[in-house]
Amino acid sequence: MNIGIIGYGYVGSAVAAAWSDRARVRFHDPAVQGSAPLSELVHDDVVFVCVPTPSRPDGRADLSAVQAVLGELAAARSSAVVVLKSTVPPGSTVALSERFPDLALAVAPEFLRERSAVADFLAPARLVLGFPPSTSAPARDRVRTLLHDRFPDTPLLELDATAAELVKYAANVFFATKVGLAAELAEVAGSLGVPWDEVRRGMALDPRIGDDHLRVPGDDGLPGFGGRCLPKDLAAWLALADDLGRDATVARAVHLANQKRRGAG
Ligand SMILES: NC(=O)c1ccc[n+]([C@@H]2O[C@H](COP(=O)([O-])OP(=O)(O)OC[C@H]3O[C@@H](n4cnc5c(N)ncnc54)[C@H](O)[C@@H]3O)[C@@H](O)[C@H]2O)c1
Repeated sequence: MNIGIIGYGYVGSAVAAAWSDRARVRFHDPAVQGSAPLSELVHDDVVFVCVPTPSRPDGRADLSAVQAVLGELAAARSSAVVVLKSTVPPGSTVALSERFPDLALAVAPEFLRERSAVADFLAPARLVLGFPPSTSAPARDRVRTLLHDRFPDTPLLELDATAAELVKYAANVFFATKVGLAAELAEVAGSLGVPWDEVRRGMALDPRIGDDHLRVPGDDGLPGFGGRCLPKDLAAWLALADDLGRDATVARAVHLANQKRRGAG
């Protein structure tokens, strides 16, 4: 099996760590030493796209790096199954499959954390895999087999592409809400002279709640959420809700409270 990786940051290097002992793995990332030319990867069996999808000024995800990479693969008549690991808003993979009809596309959103990227990637709670309607049965099988062989004991949830994308955003909006609420609860506890960690322990022992995302302050020493994923994915979620004319009162409150708490709004 030949595996190509485009974008060799947290996610791309975790993909490499997972398969380098059992496949020929090469990456393309002009910013990283050891990068192979893209042309060398285009006929690999599977190519993982792990490039950034940062926030645009309006909060929407900037898909220009993903589009550029797919454009290059399409121009090179790539025979790979191209798996998007980059976080892309619901509907993106279907739209990209229509724009690049000759590429076999899949989307497999990633749930790792930066601070434990490789360990998280190697021990996923579940794998989520989605295909746009145009992806052929043999192409689907190729990705399924790759994931199943590497993670035989991990539940593999196969969905349509938009549902798979939605799982990633829904999870991150949920985590942002949990972190934001924990910060608010901790402030009230502080006003009552109660150490937050005692409250947290008491909550976390309830398996319906769990301990994750309840620490205040977080890893960066601040209450609320920072980092590169939760703020941008929440912003993209709010933009999506706007586009769909859907109420996002809870998520918007989480966003505004976080800005206020972190002095950004
Ligand atoms: N970091 C996380 O915790 C995490 C978790 C889940 C999902 N994601 C998502 O995965 C994607 C990648 O995130 P990351 O944290 O690995 O980013 P990163 O910034 O660590 O790495 C991205 C890499 O892509 C390279 N790159 C940019 N444009 C390129 C191009 N056109 N061709 C080749 N390489 C290119 C950059 O040089 C960089 O090294 C994003 O969509 C992100 O939202 C990240």
